[in-house]
Amino acid sequence: MKRRHLIQVCGLTAVALAAPLALAQSAPFKIGLVLPMTGQQASTGRQIEAAARLYMAQNGDTVAGRKIELIVKDDTSLPDVTKRLAQELIVNDKVDVLAGMGITPSAMATAPLATQSKTPLVVMAAATSSITNASPYIVRTSFTLPQVSVAMGDWAPKNGIKSVVTLVSDYGPGNDAEKYFSERFALNGGKVIEKLRVPLRNPDFAPFLQKVRDAKPDALFVFVPSGAGAAVMKQFAERGMDKAGIKLIATGDVTDDDQLNDMGDGALGVVTTHHYSADHNSALNKKFVEAFEKANKGMRPNFMGVGGYDGMRVIYEALKSTKGKGGGDALLAGMKGQVFESPRGQVLIDAQTRDIVQDVYLRKVEKKNGQLYNVEFDVIKAVKDPGKEK
Ligand code: PHB
Repeated sequence: MKRRHLIQVCGLTAVALAAPLALAQSAPFKIGLVLPMTGQQASTGRQIEAAARLYMAQNGDTVAGRKIELIVKDDTSLPDVTKRLAQELIVNDKVDVLAGMGITPSAMATAPLATQSKTPLVVMAAATSSITNASPYIVRTSFTLPQVSVAMGDWAPKNGIKSVVTLVSDYGPGNDAEKYFSERFALNGGKVIEKLRVPLRNPDFAPFLQKVRDAKPDALFVFVPSGAGAAVMKQFAERGMDKAGIKLIATGDVTDDDQLNDMGDGALGVVTTHHYSADHNSALNKKFVEAFEKANKGMRPNFMGVGGYDGMRVIYEALKSTKGKGGGDALLAGMKGQVFESPRGQVLIDAQTRDIVQDVYLRKVEKKNGQLYNVEFDVIKAVKDPGKEK
């Protein structure tokens, strides 16, 4: 009798203890995805939202017993709005994770909120090296400009380019691209004749391109953010730069897969360095591109889309590692050190820096089946952000 009573009590205690846990586990797991859905960076928001939804469609919307709730907010490409929306998501919606961040100023504005509230912030787009230093709660699944620019500083001088003018958008990622490309190019014996910077908002490239023509370098090296590349390519061709013997070299942001097909044959032959091409030759990428295009009426995924897709993977696996319990610090621990195959190739979330380590490719714009693609022709394996090596 006594023994049975004891078992009953123990059983009841176990039930009583388990009840709040069960309740917590059945509560939705909220991801606050703050993106530029309108404004200058709207293509980035469209790509990342589409990729995040594809990831959920393919992997289910329940993870370790928790229903995943994706809350998408449009910051209109303005960092003050990103910050206000992130604050509301933390305080009112009580999100478990923040994600998105279309541009560097948005990530920088949100970083202190992530730190104060101990909310992991998964940066899926913004790419200035220093972003991950702005909060210990930031994890990045996009790339860094130093990561891809150094590769061009190595390739160009080996391929007959001895003098260059650089042209970058005048803010974090542009400054990173200019610095890391120029330093490596000079180290390899190249000469940077002039460094030009254009405003991020509504840039007019014409007067800058005229300067480049006058300087007559072997090549023009360009960084502009995703969405702005087509305007550069158009004006480069219109001003007859290529006919004047000036080559265009760039980071892959310029020959962005989201716009590349509309750029026309003027883009043919342009060599860029980047971490993702929709043409990347792997079974996983073929499947990804096909599913993405099917779900989004022929829209081609770009590197922003891949950053969003992989960001969701990082969040899902972190939640699994906590067995559905979540919690800022536990989730962060589950994000650090993840190694997996992305549509771009093998990647690592470096546990020390919380930044992504990935392959960087040399690519050339070519026509395949009547469509323009960045066709990869060389690779530098497992590149860490050079901005973190100092
Ligand atoms: C950024 O603002 O960090 C950024 C945006 C678009 C890019 C690259 C970097 O293509």
